[in-house]
Amino acid sequence: MTVIAIDGPAGSGKSTLARNLARAFGFVFLDTGAMYRALALAAQRAGIPPNDEPRLTQLAQQIEIYFVAEGDTQRVLLNGEDVSEAIRTPEISDLASRISVYPGVRRAMVALQRALASRADGVVAEGRDTTTVVFPEAIVKIYLDASPQERARRRQQQLQQQGIDEPYEKVLQEILERDARDLARADSPLRIAPDALVVQNDGWTKEQTFEHVLNLCRQRIGTTEVR
Ligand code: DC
Repeated sequence: MTVIAIDGPAGSGKSTLARNLARAFGFVFLDTGAMYRALALAAQRAGIPPNDEPRLTQLAQQIEIYFVAEGDTQRVLLNGEDVSEAIRTPEISDLASRISVYPGVRRAMVALQRALASRADGVVAEGRDTTTVVFPEAIVKIYLDASPQERARRRQQQLQQQGIDEPYEKVLQEILERDARDLARADSPLRIAPDALVVQNDGWTKEQTFEHVLNLCRQRIGTTEVR
């Protein structure tokens, strides 16, 4: 199995990049953030409070999360239900970042991520710990970064496209809070793997980021063959 792993903070453009790389190489796209989000949604629906570690761990062990391709995109299925839109609200973002601190939750999610990947010939995985914990053997490791201000601008635009209007200052505050939680948690904090290539993409378009990383991947994988 060939793995390209991409980590980085919220709003750095990991999902778009990973989706485009997966398409270019004909690999499966493993959006690990979507999995923590799906778990957060399931917890919210089950009325489990964000501080109830034992029940959240149990839920993570029982949950079924799948990705199914649909045209050029892919849908996230939670116990068979399409929750692709429901997991993209600011409320679920916040909840996902709170429940992802628990070691038991992370262990269950990492096992699920490896199981999903094991069925594929090639995977592009993205998240916070895919280069460090989930796929330490990945052939390409990218740490994608941008300043909090740039990431907040992007996130605000993304939310606007979903019909959610949030003031810039509030989005920036949320980004800073999520960064703090992602970086400070004891289990699998967001960090740069020693062998990761750091890509700082302030001021770059999605296309520029994609072209840059595509070239890095081609050099590492040793092929210029893309679909
Ligand atoms: O990338 P995202 O915004 O969809 O991720 C949602 C939350 O899930 C984020 O706050 C951190 C958490 N997460 C994680 O802890 N580990 C991952 N591999 C992916 C996401």
